[in-house]
Amino acid sequence: MKIVLFGAGKRGLKLLDYLLSMDNVDIVAISDPINDSARRAAGICKESGRRIPVVYSTGRESVAEILDNENPDAVIITTYWDSHAAIALESMRRKIYPGIDVPAALRIDELWQLVETSENTGTPCMMLENWSFRKDNLAVLNMKRLGMFGKIVHCHCAHSHNCIDHWFFDSENGEARWQAEYLLKYNRMQYPTHALGPVISWMDINRGDSFSEIYTVSSASLGINEYFRNKFGEDHPNARLKYRQGDIVTSVLGTKRGKTLVINNDLQLPRPYANRWMLQGTKGVYEEEKSSIYLSDFSPEYQKWESWQPYEEKYNHRWWKTDFPSPSFRGADYIMLSQFVEAVRKRGPVPLDVYDSAVMSATIELSGMSVKKRKPVPFPDFTRGKWRTNEACFAV
Ligand SMILES: NC(=O)c1ccc[n+]([C@@H]2O[C@H](COP(=O)([O-])OP(=O)(O)OC[C@H]3O[C@@H](n4cnc5c(N)ncnc54)[C@H](O)[C@@H]3O)[C@@H](O)[C@H]2O)c1
Repeated sequence: MKIVLFGAGKRGLKLLDYLLSMDNVDIVAISDPINDSARRAAGICKESGRRIPVVYSTGRESVAEILDNENPDAVIITTYWDSHAAIALESMRRKIYPGIDVPAALRIDELWQLVETSENTGTPCMMLENWSFRKDNLAVLNMKRLGMFGKIVHCHCAHSHNCIDHWFFDSENGEARWQAEYLLKYNRMQYPTHALGPVISWMDINRGDSFSEIYTVSSASLGINEYFRNKFGEDHPNARLKYRQGDIVTSVLGTKRGKTLVINNDLQLPRPYANRWMLQGTKGVYEEEKSSIYLSDFSPEYQKWESWQPYEEKYNHRWWKTDFPSPSFRGADYIMLSQFVEAVRKRGPVPLDVYDSAVMSATIELSGMSVKKRKPVPFPDFTRGKWRTNEACFAV
């Protein structure tokens, strides 16, 4: 199977490593306008004993040209956020499967274009949301499908991850990386898809239910300036620059079938990493942060937490029972990519489809709109009503 990799930065190289461990995956070309990055990626392919891919690194080759030259079966898109949709659209027009790293796109109009192009060309499109494939999250999904939580009522999730000191800015000299401009321009959930990935399948979104509205509030923006003051001194320009992005953004979403969801995004305060996944139904509750569960039909003591771990093992999803090429590949990224590759090989459906990709990504622009208007905004139904009859397909 022929794959073109667009974007050979940190994430691109990580996914490349996994792809090179898979049989019959042929990386035919690497596209990245940073010549060193593209050449490093090509070198990694060569060292792994595979063919040396064609390198597109002048920045002058169009996506269309690259795809027409190489005619791949799939593309992996690990570029800056603003180019994800355009590369995926060009690919689908040629019936090439796009695997887009998160988010699928930033704007609602782009997400509609992805949906319509996927429908019109019959080409599946998958956002590569790796946290949907975690062992704990898949075990929760198995149990939810067995009815162990009863009817689902409420979920909570978070992306609490201090990204200021390494991802938005260079940790050594404080220089802004490409992502930092979004902190100046917008006040919204900048990176919600990791939190949302598992939750949309727990809540049957697009398959039995649909988000109806989203209301978002955002705190003051204090963390970035304080980080620069403490680390680089009062005179560093970023110590005084006015960032629009609030430190903690909280969204409340409702669904057409009466479920609720709370999402927190906090990316710019010092803190340990957390996702705080929580699922609550009429028969019990799961709390990831406590690593605890209570199920009214199963837990031995009335309304007392018990350990989550035995449940994770007992309801382990079959994807986690497969052979991994090495212990270091044992993880959500490998499972996600191998499922995508398998779908391309069979020219069948992808595990997270274009509607799932659109819903997760839409929360970025919608949350910003809600913060600005200070009121809830309607959530678009990308399935155009098909959520009523669509059956669950993720990890079934
Ligand atoms: N799923 C995850 O866990 C995870 C983790 C980190 C990053 N990401 C996602 O991966 C993507 C890349 O992030 P990163 O941290 O690797 O950034 P990065 O800056 O390290 O790499 C991005 C690369 O894309 C290249 N690029 C930009 N526009 C391009 C285009 N039009 N065509 C070809 N190449 C282009 C850049 O030159 C750069 O080398 C982002 O979408 C990010 O959200 C996902």
